[in-house]
Amino acid sequence: FAAAMTAIALVTAAAPAFAQCDDGEMVIKFSHVTNSDKHPKGIAAQMFADRVNAEMNGKVCVEVYPNSTLYNDDQVLEAMLQGDVQMAAPSLSKFESFTKVFNIFDLPFMFKNMRAVDAFQNSDVGQEMKGSMERRGLTGLEFWHSGMKQFSAKSELRMPGDAKGLKFRVQPSDVLVAQMEALGASPQPMAFSEVYGALQTGVVDGQENTWSNSYGQKYYEVQAAITETNHGLLDYLVVVSTDWWAGLDAETRDQLSTIMNEVTVARNAAVEEVEATARQSILDAGGKIIELTPDERQAWVDAMKPVWAKFVDGIGQDKIDAAQAINA
Ligand code: LMR
Repeated sequence: FAAAMTAIALVTAAAPAFAQCDDGEMVIKFSHVTNSDKHPKGIAAQMFADRVNAEMNGKVCVEVYPNSTLYNDDQVLEAMLQGDVQMAAPSLSKFESFTKVFNIFDLPFMFKNMRAVDAFQNSDVGQEMKGSMERRGLTGLEFWHSGMKQFSAKSELRMPGDAKGLKFRVQPSDVLVAQMEALGASPQPMAFSEVYGALQTGVVDGQENTWSNSYGQKYYEVQAAITETNHGLLDYLVVVSTDWWAGLDAETRDQLSTIMNEVTVARNAAVEEVEATARQSILDAGGKIIELTPDERQAWVDAMKPVWAKFVDGIGQDKIDAAQAINA
C-alpha cells in the first residue's frame, strides 16, 4: 500500500499544471518556458487557462505546460505550425526568422519604461505588428509584458568596459548579438532552459534578463552581481497558428479573444509590481544588485545605442520614429 501511495504521489508530482480535460472538449496546449506562479508570463498563462476552463467548460480546455516541459522557444513555433501545440508566448526576440519588425523591441534603450512600451504596442503601428507573420502562418493575439533587462556576470559590471572579453548568453536575436559585440563581449545564443547550467559551469560568464527571470532561474546564485542597467525590453507575443485560429467557430474564437484580452489588460497593468517583487526577492536571497549613477548609465547608452543604425532597414524608420515619439 505504501509503495502504491508513493507511486501515486510521484505521478501527481510529475503531472503538468492543468485540469483534466473532459472527453469532447477541444484541448488547447499552451507551452511556455518560465515558471508559473511568480512570473508575469506564468501568471498570465495560468489565469487565461483558469478562466477558459471555468467559462468554456465542456467546450474548450486549456493545458498549460510551463518551464520548457513541452517545448523550448526554439522548437515551439515549428511545433505550432505542425499543429502539435496551439498557443505559446515566446519573447519578441524569438521571432526573428519569421519577421524583422520585432527587432525594434530588442534595440537597446528604445523604451524608457513599461508605460512607453504599452503605449507603443497599443498604437496603430504596434497593433499592426501582430499581423506581421501571417504569411508565415502565425497570428499574434496580444502582447504580454515582462519588464526591463539587466546585465549580470561572474565579475561586477559597472562600466561598459567591464563586459569586454566576457561571454554572455543572449536570446537568438541578431540585435542582441550586435549589442554584445558593441560592448566587446562575446555573445552566445542559447535556449533559456540551459542558461543556469551554462553560468554555473562557466560555459558563459554573464547574461541579460528581467528581475523575474533572474530570480526565477536563480541566476543571482551563480553571478557576482546584477547591474541595474534597464537597457532593454523583454516582452512577449501570444501566438497561434493562423490556420488553426481561422478554423475555430466564430463564437469560440470570440470568447477566447475576449478572455485573452481581459487577462492581458489585467496582467500587463501588474507587471511592474511582479518585477519589483522579484528584485526584492533577489536581495532577500543574498543576491547583489549594483545601482548606476546617471553618468555611469549614460556610458552604457553611448556604447550600445549605435547598434540601432544596423537594423533600421529591416524594422522601418517610420516605426522607430513612432516609438520614439511615444517615448519622448
Ligand atoms: C529568455 O529566453 O531569456 C526569455 O525569453 C525567457 C522568457 O520567456 O522569459
